[in-house]
Amino acid sequence: MMPFVNLTGQREAYREELEAAERAVLDSGCYIGGPEVKALEAELADFCNTGSPDAGKEGFFAGKDRAEPWTQAVTCASGTDALTIALMALGLKPGDEVIVPDFTFIAPAECVAFLGGIPRFADIDPETLQIDPENVRALIGPKTRGIIGVDLFGQCAPFKELRQIADAHGLWIIEDAAQAFGAISGQNRAATFGSISITSFYPSKPLGCYGDGGALFTSDPKLEAKIRQIANHGSTGRYQHESVGLNSRLDALQAAILRVKLRHFESELKVRRENARKYDEFFAEYNAGTAAGARIVPQYIGENCTSTYAQYTVLADDREAFIKKLDKAGIPHCIHYPQPLHEQPCFRELGQGSENKNAIEASKKAVSLPVCAFTDVDFIINKLRAAL
Ligand SMILES: Cc1ncc(COP(=O)(O)O)c(C=O)c1O
Repeated sequence: MMPFVNLTGQREAYREELEAAERAVLDSGCYIGGPEVKALEAELADFCNTGSPDAGKEGFFAGKDRAEPWTQAVTCASGTDALTIALMALGLKPGDEVIVPDFTFIAPAECVAFLGGIPRFADIDPETLQIDPENVRALIGPKTRGIIGVDLFGQCAPFKELRQIADAHGLWIIEDAAQAFGAISGQNRAATFGSISITSFYPSKPLGCYGDGGALFTSDPKLEAKIRQIANHGSTGRYQHESVGLNSRLDALQAAILRVKLRHFESELKVRRENARKYDEFFAEYNAGTAAGARIVPQYIGENCTSTYAQYTVLADDREAFIKKLDKAGIPHCIHYPQPLHEQPCFRELGQGSENKNAIEASKKAVSLPVCAFTDVDFIINKLRAAL
């Protein structure tokens, strides 16, 4: 069966470069930190700060750099660690509240709770599936310290509105770009919208390594220093521990692999967008001839947004029937996510979220289809055409 993300196809395409990079690290004797990690951090920051002439929509990044302040990158051991470190660097204390979207992967809410904070679950927009700024505003109270905006499925959260709300209430923003490194909103890249932004290099992410990995981004030098300190046992110097921290490092081997993949990343994003456009056309045609109750509607991508399409997610009116047809046709699929976070057993006792009707509805309708640069989407669409 076709994989949901074709990682072996990608490895085959870059095999020579990857093997040379892997061999160089293994032969170097330097496996943690060192020049590969340093070079990757500089390249990730450059990627966020510098425009791409072929980002997909006119006017975006026409080869220009974005304005200062520059974003800096600090790598770490996973996206989950990156969120934890970000919350620690921003001074989250037990009992503090952080607003998170109700419809997303668990990590943002989990990290808040892990540090003794209280996640407050905000509803989402029914079309973009992103956190709803109006609902965020309604959840702000005396204990609110910040907002985690998640760039769901590869499209940036509505940071313009979130920033206005955060500034008006003295809150910080963490941008969770785990699914969206490489996305664009307005003139800026994902991972530049938060007081601290984070991403994940989990293998199936748009930019993934061969294990766990993550990174934090900030343009505030004081926060950058704090992040580096927390990620390295709270150290300010050798065996000097200013605060209690973590061991959260990216291996040199993973850094070398990511540096190879980063060189091809822009062209992969282009193919992902092209694949998504093919699905868009197919579902538009399908929905035009289909009655309400059986429609399959793709996540809406905003006017000024360019998604990375971490996966291609649709809302199916009759998900059970759609999935049966996908199974019969041998088309891989996933459900991101089968429950809103407030319904997860670990958060039920918080007694929140039952009024989040859009998050609840999305969790009943969402289905994700393969879209990576090494997936034959024409083949899948032919099968869909025959199956639906
Ligand atoms: C939105 C979001 N945040 C955080 C994470 C956590 O990343 P990691 O698996 O690297 O810890 C993920 C991973 O799936 C994610 O999708």
